[in-house]
Formats: sequence, structure tokens, C-alpha cells
Amino acid sequence: MIKHLVSPLDFSTAELQSLLELGHAIMEKPEQYAGCCQGKKLASLFFEPSTRTRLSFEAAMLELGGQVLSVSSADSSSAAKGESVADTMRMISCYADIAAMRHPLEGAAAWASLFSSIPLINAGDGGHLHPTQTLTDLFAIRREKKTLNGLCIALCGDLKYGRTVHSLIRAMLRCQNVRFLLIHPPSLGLPSYITQEMTAAGCSFSEQACLQDALSQADVLYMTRIQRERFASACDGSFSLAPYTLNARLMKHACQQLLVLHPLPRVDEIDPDVDADPRAYYFQQALCGKYIRMALILTLLHHTKDPCLPGSSVSLPSSELPTARQCSNPNCITQHERGIHHACKQTDGVSRCLYCEHELT
Ligand code: CP
Repeated sequence: MIKHLVSPLDFSTAELQSLLELGHAIMEKPEQYAGCCQGKKLASLFFEPSTRTRLSFEAAMLELGGQVLSVSSADSSSAAKGESVADTMRMISCYADIAAMRHPLEGAAAWASLFSSIPLINAGDGGHLHPTQTLTDLFAIRREKKTLNGLCIALCGDLKYGRTVHSLIRAMLRCQNVRFLLIHPPSLGLPSYITQEMTAAGCSFSEQACLQDALSQADVLYMTRIQRERFASACDGSFSLAPYTLNARLMKHACQQLLVLHPLPRVDEIDPDVDADPRAYYFQQALCGKYIRMALILTLLHHTKDPCLPGSSVSLPSSELPTARQCSNPNCITQHERGIHHACKQTDGVSRCLYCEHELT
């Protein structure tokens, strides 16, 4: 009876459609939803820095008439004393009705959801996924383009560690005739679990040498920050930023209907001289995030009819298999959490870690 949002695929196409429509309705008439969460509490658990996701979740709950319990950094919670993710989640389930969690470890949300007796929302797990940013992106694209089908989407920047990119691709694979153009430094291409999904879905994608070539073809340009804080080795970072930077001069090569998105924060990858261009939509996109998160909170609370007591033991979904093989991803939750059950899932004949989805070797 509890629905979590860990991966962008946790909603069916029909559920996603309803969510986007609800977000749209809330954005049109927010006053009609002002008391919908009276008496409900959101736990806002941010073990990694955030401006937009944390504050838009908190604003969303407050605008729905609910209240917020907030952990704004790992240092300010018992995680700093070594408390496990599992125990943290058991505790939060005692105090709140719904939780949004950001964590630096990949797969942390999937693991936490096994111990949560309230709806748990993945607000970003390391370099893995960021499904509520994806809801924001889909909401923004649909508002401006009136469709999610038949679009050419250029993805530029750090496609390796950019969790928003992974989540967006995953969600867009369910749309029809979507084409991706990939522009990234040589060391920062998409992880294999994402390219395998694209291939299996029959999705068209191609590498582009430079941003200028992609601009003339794209309906949507999705810019991303280079996530130096996640680099696993020095060789990830030895490249020039210039080919992955958007400025007003380059925008002259783009079509008039281009929609420029960025999950933000931006650093140097979009020059401020682009901000005044009517095609620059990244600040409106962040506003869309508040309304779609209001819709998400309402939807997940509506699904949870009968919350149970905090669980004491883990039960893995039946399609997923316990395994003796350990995940070798140093940023995976399995490398850091005591007592974690190693588990794998099979995707297209490849064994992957259940939590972070890296290939098990
Ligand atoms: N887009 C996004 O996740 O921004 P924050 O890191 O500020 O939450």
C-alpha cells in the first residue's frame, strides 16, 4: 500500500500522465490545493547540498498546508555519528508521513525504501538517478512543446555523473520517436546501463563533436554542469570546457523554437549572456519543480492508505536475486552500509547491482 519514487520508471505512463496533469492544474490554481496536506509532515532529508530540490520540496509541502521536518546536511543528523541509512529510515518513518531523501551514495534511496513505512522519494542518489528533477524536466518540456513525443534532445556536459541526464533518458525512452544527441568530454560519456537501455528500446542516439552542430537540429538542449566532486580519477577531468559551453554567439546557430534547459546549479557551462534569450527556460524550469513536487506529494500520500509500522527486516522484491558477488562501484551504498544484502537484477542478460545498477563482474 506504500508507493515510493526511487526510479523514474516507478510510475507507469498513465500514472505519469496523471501526475503531469495534476501539476499543471496546481500551477494554474494553487489556491485550490492550499489545505490538501493539513496535518501531514514531510521529512526533508538532505545528506548532500541542495538549493532547488530541498527548498522546492519544502515550499511544496508548506503551500499544500502541511509541515516540514528538515535535515539540511549530513553533519546535522546522526549520520555524522555513523547511523546507517536503514536505521535512519526506520526512525523517519516514526515521525513523518512522507520523506524526500538526497544522499551521496548511489543506490541509497533503493536501500532506504526497503525500511521505509512511509512513501520515500529519491531526491538524488550520488551520480545515479534524480527522478524528481526528471518530473520537473518533463513538466517543463510538455508545457512549452505541448508534447513529449517526436523530439530531438541534445544532452551536453557531464553525461557520466549527471544523474539528471540518466533519469531523463530513462523516462523519455517511453515516449515515441525521441532522438538524443550526446555532446560530452571524452571521459564523461553515459554509463553502460543507460546506453544498453537506449539500445534495447530501439532509441536513436548519436555522439556529436560539438555543441554548434547539435544546436541546429535540437528541439531541446539540456545543459549540465561538470560534476568534478564526483570524479573517480584524475583522468576524468583533463579536458577543455569550451566545447561544452553555451553562449549568446552559439545561440545564433539554434532554431527559434529551441528550449534551453538546465537542472541547475550552473557554473560556467551557460554564459550569463544567454539568460535574456527567450529560449533560455532554466529559471522557469526550476519554478515548474515546485508545482510538480506538490503533485507528487499529493499523489504518493493518496496511494498510501494504511501505513504500517517501521519494518525490522528487509524483503527483496521477488524478481531480484540475492548474490554473493559484491558491487565494485566505490560510490555504491553496498560499499558503505553495514548489514546490507547484496542483490542483483538481470537486464538484457547482464547482471547488475540492485541498488546502483553497475555491472557485476
Ligand atoms: N537541480 C537540482 O537538483 O538542484 P539542487 O542541487 O540545488 O537541488
